[in-house]
Amino acid sequence: MSERGAGGDGSGDAVVVGAAAARAHWVADELGCDESYGAWLAELDGLGEPTDETVLPAPDDAAALLRRLGCPESAVTDAVTTLPGASADPARWWLLDRCRARLVRDLGDPGASRGLWPQLPSRLGAAGGAFYLHLFLATMPATLRYHEDRAVPEDVSWATLADLGRHVALHGAAYGATGVDEPWWMTLHLRGILYEIGRLQYSVFRLGEGPEHPRPWYDDSDAALLGPGFRVGDGTVGIHIPAGGPLTPDECAASYRRARHVIDASFPVPGRRVATCSTWLLDDQLDEYLPPESNILAFQRSFRLVPGWVEGDRNVMTFVFRTHDTPLDRLPQETRMQRAVVSHLRAGRHFHWRTGWLDLSRA
Ligand SMILES: CC(C)(COP(=O)(O)OP(=O)(O)OC[C@H]1O[C@@H](n2cnc3c(N)ncnc32)[C@H](O)[C@@H]1OP(=O)(O)O)[C@@H](O)C(=O)NCCC(=O)NCCS
Repeated sequence: MSERGAGGDGSGDAVVVGAAAARAHWVADELGCDESYGAWLAELDGLGEPTDETVLPAPDDAAALLRRLGCPESAVTDAVTTLPGASADPARWWLLDRCRARLVRDLGDPGASRGLWPQLPSRLGAAGGAFYLHLFLATMPATLRYHEDRAVPEDVSWATLADLGRHVALHGAAYGATGVDEPWWMTLHLRGILYEIGRLQYSVFRLGEGPEHPRPWYDDSDAALLGPGFRVGDGTVGIHIPAGGPLTPDECAASYRRARHVIDASFPVPGRRVATCSTWLLDDQLDEYLPPESNILAFQRSFRLVPGWVEGDRNVMTFVFRTHDTPLDRLPQETRMQRAVVSHLRAGRHFHWRTGWLDLSRA
């Protein structure tokens, strides 16, 4: 069934819309997507027929790429054995094609909406769990071309994309099955918005424009007082902290130094000064619980805090325990942070999601 219509007059357009909607409903039925997927499918429908083609690598090449991206062997096997084909798996192919086209359309545009990226229904088993690995394989060639056009160093390109392996491992640890933890996050990498440079990741955007804008941030009059680098429209970078080994001050300093050069060369913006960071790790209440030599407190000391905070309990539970519904008395209590979280919440207090900034040109 083609979604392209002859168009032209009003009745032709009506046929196109009807055919496209019918296709999205058919995809939903085939994949067992309930009404909670309605907005996502409608969004993908609205893109229209992609103008370029989705191409997946051959199974051996797909396996080699996923291994290079750090994916565990069980996920590589699941992804390779469920690679979809346009005629063999038309519903999964439709989804893949539309999702890839959307990411390619938004390449390099931090102002674009982050979009909806739900996990596929569990009844699809490995094929559903591997969907975002397939999307990675389908979109990566365009992302790598974009990196190349911007002269992003090759090691940065591959380190960036290898965050996939980390997120597949996180999903595997939580659910014991193939999948990608927080698939929406991985779309920033595929869109050329986010780069991993040493221990930290950096997103490239303009203040006040689109979903990458930090929250909380200064109001316009305070930003104007702080001057260039802080105002709406000023180019900036967001710092992100991937899970992994300890966040040592030396590794952070090395990352800031290299990031400054890489970002200035690949994404030159006159007058860029500040790098912002919005995270639970900047909650200044943590100094009640952690010793002064803690890496998190050392990280905090590199930043100036923006006034205000947003409640961050859910983020803390995600990044410390990877659960939200386990009662406090059943959470592990092995590390200082785990004990801190339980005693803070038991006392009826909340964690603070804060924004901080540092001058990357001096870091
Ligand atoms: C960022 C991170 C690497 C810092 O860990 P670190 O370098 O060990 O930090 P510190 O030295 O300050 O740790 C102090 C104590 O808290 C513990 N701790 C720190 N982060 C922890 C976490 N996320 N979960 C459990 N315990 C943690 C440490 O093990 C240490 O405990 P100990 O003294 O009993 O051995 C770690 O928190 C992490 O991996 N977080 C996940 C990613 C994340 O939160 N990103 C930000 C998203 S907004």
